[in-house]
Amino acid sequence: MSLIDIEGISFQYPNGNQVLEGLSLHLEEGDKIGLLGENGTGKTTLFHIILGLLKPTKGEITIFGKRRETEQDFKKIRRSIGLLFQDSDDQLFCPSVIEDVAFGPLNMGMNHHEATERAEQTLEELGILRFRDRVPYQLSGGEKRLVSMATILSMRPEILLLDEPTTGLDEKTKKRLISVLQNYPAKAWIIISHVQSTIEAMSNKYYKLNEGRIA
Ligand SMILES: Nc1ncnc2c1ncn2[C@@H]1O[C@H](COP(=O)(O)OP(=O)(O)OP(=O)(O)O)[C@@H](O)[C@H]1O
Ligand SMILES: [Mg+2]
Repeated sequence: MSLIDIEGISFQYPNGNQVLEGLSLHLEEGDKIGLLGENGTGKTTLFHIILGLLKPTKGEITIFGKRRETEQDFKKIRRSIGLLFQDSDDQLFCPSVIEDVAFGPLNMGMNHHEATERAEQTLEELGILRFRDRVPYQLSGGEKRLVSMATILSMRPEILLLDEPTTGLDEKTKKRLISVLQNYPAKAWIIISHVQSTIEAMSNKYYKLNEGRIA
């Protein structure tokens, strides 16, 4: 089944920087796409477009079989598509780790007790329950990476968009994260990474972004 269909998307930043040009991409159930491309080719921009955080100047986006255009359209899909931001500081904004990880579940309508339980369970799965009461902005880069991942997985999204998930992780932590993700029942995911071993372990298809489109 087709989950995300992107057809002929173009995108230009307000300063005139043309990033995407006629890009098409299709994500089907079972797809584990490794998205490659040099720095500045627009990989992160593409993820933001898929979630409706940026509006394309041209083209069509269909998600779960429905055309998505308005903020209202995209709001409905954001709980089903977990986006791991490239920069953890864009993801973490609460005074404690547990609040950050419980934020999504609370937003989905769980009560405080359920959301906290879900957050603790997710931290446990990632092996970082010990960070529960830490202040997110005082964590190290790698620690923030794991907590960011927890804020997404706690919502149990069907699709994952992972922007450089293993950047800044040591070898052992990287392996643990990959194994958590491999056991996660996602319908499909797209992963951006410059780390060869991450792409190899986590993809069954490879796309390359070049000159504004998928090569
Ligand atoms: N807010 C912005 N305004 C203008 N240009 C921007 C803005 N954000 C990003 N860009 C530019 O758009 C291009 C694509 O950026 P993007 O972050 O999508 O690249 P990327 O493929 O994710 O790169 P990297 O591998 O370094 O993460 C880059 O040239 C970048 O400088
Ligand atoms: Mg990027």
